[in-house]
Amino acid sequence: TTQRTVSESGAGVFGRGRASIPDRTLRTDNWWLQPTLTVLGLAAFVIYATVRAFWRGAYWVSDYHYLTPFYSPCVSTSCAEGSSHFGHWFGALPSWIPLGFLALPFLLLFRLTCYYYRKAYYRSVWFSPPACAVAEPHAKYTGETRLPLIIQNAHRYFFYIAVIVSLINTYDAIMAFHGKNGGFGFGLGNIILVANVVLLWAYTVSCHSCRHITGGRLKHFSAHPVRYWIWTQVSKLNTRHMQLAWTTLASLAITDFYVMLVASGTLTDLRFVH
Ligand code: FES
Repeated sequence: TTQRTVSESGAGVFGRGRASIPDRTLRTDNWWLQPTLTVLGLAAFVIYATVRAFWRGAYWVSDYHYLTPFYSPCVSTSCAEGSSHFGHWFGALPSWIPLGFLALPFLLLFRLTCYYYRKAYYRSVWFSPPACAVAEPHAKYTGETRLPLIIQNAHRYFFYIAVIVSLINTYDAIMAFHGKNGGFGFGLGNIILVANVVLLWAYTVSCHSCRHITGGRLKHFSAHPVRYWIWTQVSKLNTRHMQLAWTTLASLAITDFYVMLVASGTLTDLRFVH
């Protein structure tokens, strides 16, 4: 069995000096439930986002200027007319390149290297280990000290890019207050787009790297009252980072789904101001 192989290699919890326990774990509770739910939730989002990113349809509502965050910024001439809020930086793209190709890889890297998501997929996907006091199947552990996991240390740079993308999404949400015949308009889509942007900011600002950027490396908080205040606020949000990680996955999917329904004509947007 795997256990025997690992145990013969004498590494990790099977190393010399560790109590030899034949069972994989002595836990009797449902320790597998959390990693199972996590992997299901992550897989659902990844499948949905991949399908939508490559879909190339129903991402822009020209009447109300709703743009799904999955296609923002849309900077190629392949983008629907009016959806390129920042102009055309590229010509037509082949169909296998998502129109949101500029931001999507960085958003993926931002989430992949996020401290919370690491915990989530190290446990649920990589079983390293699957839960507290449950031995992992891997014989070796090199941590985040070499490739590929050393890339995790670049998280703060992906954070900087995520801030730029959040600014872009905010701009999109503001541009979406657009009436059918021009001028100001307001509908249910606006509430969804704005709520999503607010949650995205909360997730981004609650980032552990952001906490370190604002208040890290200070020897005396008293000498830096402004940074100390910002750090205190970020720290408060930071305690909710896991919840925000999940809420924003949901809000991103809901926002995209709503834009898709309206853009495809499946649903009519509920308008408060035309
Ligand atoms: Fe999660 Fe930075 S730690 S986004």
